[in-house]
Amino acid sequence: MAAVKIDGKVLAAQVKEEVAQEVIRLKARGIEPCLAVIQVGNNPASTAYVNGKERDCGECGIKSLVLRLPEKTTQEQLLETMAKLTADPTVHGLLVQLPLPKHISEEAVIEAIPPEKDVDGFTPINVGNMTIGKPCFLPCTPAGCIRMIQSTGVSMAGKQAVVLGRSNIVGKPAALLLLRENATVTICHSKTQNLKEICRQADILVAAIGKEAFVTGDMIKEGAVVIDVGINRGADGKLHGDVDFAAAMEKAAYVTPVPGGVGLMTRAMLMVNTLQAAKLQNSMK
Ligand code: GUN
Repeated sequence: MAAVKIDGKVLAAQVKEEVAQEVIRLKARGIEPCLAVIQVGNNPASTAYVNGKERDCGECGIKSLVLRLPEKTTQEQLLETMAKLTADPTVHGLLVQLPLPKHISEEAVIEAIPPEKDVDGFTPINVGNMTIGKPCFLPCTPAGCIRMIQSTGVSMAGKQAVVLGRSNIVGKPAALLLLRENATVTICHSKTQNLKEICRQADILVAAIGKEAFVTGDMIKEGAVVIDVGINRGADGKLHGDVDFAAAMEKAAYVTPVPGGVGLMTRAMLMVNTLQAAKLQNSMK
């Protein structure tokens, strides 16, 4: 039987609608949630992401400040710009779009974001709190993946979950969040032996490896939930995931498409985090 496609558009719209309702409540109390996004340089993919975030803010009633800095901006200049925004009490969330130009240290930039404004969930404090299960901002892509799995009604508890990829932004935190849902988690990466066999055991497969159609039909267990985090620009100029979508639709029970899947949920979760940041900075739950 063909799998069910998990519709990121519908799910993201639901999440954003919930945020928009809460934003109305906050505004009635005189609080206008505000997200500041800094982009350095003109990476076209980054520009598209930043434009998307601006649009999402508009839909949710969140104020959006977008600062586009030239490619030649120095690290010092970027840190100065960030310092102004971190000191501004009307700015609740601060995000610096990655990747940054090579002459700027991503580590130094991330560490300059105060944890309470770190709506990406990238700072060491938020990563640490997530790891030990304390309240924190969850990184948006992994949090979006979990919401998508939850939307299927399939319980993660006790299931074999396999994460392909070990990046700090997706693979590692996705594994931790699956663990928090009581899944039995395996992380596979470029050095993993018997990768296909391991994937075949997965009741839940999260692909975040950055290679077009890396996950073929023979790597998917019958009835699995397949979450495709990949966004790869194919030779045809179109966006493709890390999963062979047609093959996955034949084997799995649920599959996320690309585009129209995880990417939209990532953006929706950023709105959730920005709302949360505005509440926390105004001592609201
Ligand atoms: N670049 C690609 N994805 C992301 C993200 O989630 N946050 C930031 N800041 N940069 C990114």
